[in-house]
Amino acid sequence: MARPRVDLVAGARPNFMKLAPVLRALREEGRVDACVVHTGQHYDRSMSAVFFEELDIPEPDVHLDVGSGTHGVQTARILERYEARLLAEPPAAVVVFGDVNSTVASALAAVKLGVRVAHVEAGLRSGDRSMPEETNRILTDAMADLLLVSEASGVENLRREGIEEAKIRLVGNVMIDTLLTQLKRARSSNVLARLQLEQRGYGLVTLHRPSNVDDPRILSRILQVLGELSQQLPLVFPIHPRTRTAIERAGLSSLLHPERSTLRALEPLPYTDNLALMSGAAVVLTDSGGMQEETAVLRVPCLTMRPNTERPVTVRLGTSRLVANDPERIRQGFQDVLDGNWTKGAPIPLWDGRASERIAAELGEWLGA
Ligand code: UD1
Repeated sequence: MARPRVDLVAGARPNFMKLAPVLRALREEGRVDACVVHTGQHYDRSMSAVFFEELDIPEPDVHLDVGSGTHGVQTARILERYEARLLAEPPAAVVVFGDVNSTVASALAAVKLGVRVAHVEAGLRSGDRSMPEETNRILTDAMADLLLVSEASGVENLRREGIEEAKIRLVGNVMIDTLLTQLKRARSSNVLARLQLEQRGYGLVTLHRPSNVDDPRILSRILQVLGELSQQLPLVFPIHPRTRTAIERAGLSSLLHPERSTLRALEPLPYTDNLALMSGAAVVLTDSGGMQEETAVLRVPCLTMRPNTERPVTVRLGTSRLVANDPERIRQGFQDVLDGNWTKGAPIPLWDGRASERIAAELGEWLGA
């Protein structure tokens, strides 16, 4: 009997770290064939190709080249182009990752054609409908036939939404599979030396959520407080393209002036360099979901610049504290870190580097392979 084929669909930076270990596990297990579909939601070399190279993901079998656009345009382009691919080469199932526009659009294209969908990182809920990702999560989970969940809170959320128990599997966190695989390489990275940083002698900042960067008043408030904190501890700030554009549009580039500021602006970093900087940092200040998870495993203090999180285990067992974009809470959190007044964190169940093996086994079963 021919092996069933699945499409693994990814489009935006955080998808690539999740796809890599699942692809590897499927290939090692050998029961299911896998094709890589890149929607093209992220297209800059530093946001996409770099990750394919570092994480040993082969060239995509299919590239939809959708590029940037409004939510409607981006989602519609993926829907149209991915549907054409599904009609031409129908897979046994589609595997989607995370909560970006590529996730919900490719899942919708599939279910409308009666192709089954598996969702990796199902069940996460921030409870905040103003986040575009929350809509993507809820809709994707409502469509998916197999829900592969990274933390226990996700199972509770899915039950609450009436998703059948038989579809839900708690498998752990594939992002951590990638982290543990790449940690050795990250530890031999020379990024700290290149940036003249000492272990634990700096903080790492990332910022890209629309709620933090799109409104110039909020963005300015955040950059002001970061500038102030960087007087106590140098901060490095790899800047997402969305944020770079927002800073320029708001006329705030002077806040990052290289000679006047200890808040150092960098281009977006490759995976290994970012991991090296995260693991050597005294503190991470971020609004990234992935980095909340990664700092939890690295046991590095994380000030999460969001009012809520869909990853509550990173606060409950990990090293994250929610500080929103409130200068007082950010200052207080930063001071607590400097004073050593911070949780050491604890291991998180199933964040053990083997989530993708469990996923490959579940997919094999599910497809009757
Ligand atoms: C997307 C995801 C977000 C995820 C983030 C990680 C959605 C709704 N949002 O947000 O959940 O955390 O990716 O990075 O899917 N741009 C470039 N080069 C690129 C890609 C984007 O310059 O390669 C610029 C464009 O100006 C674009 C803007 O960034 O308009 C935003 O890109 P988009 O993919 O719409 O959303 P992100 O903010 O990256």
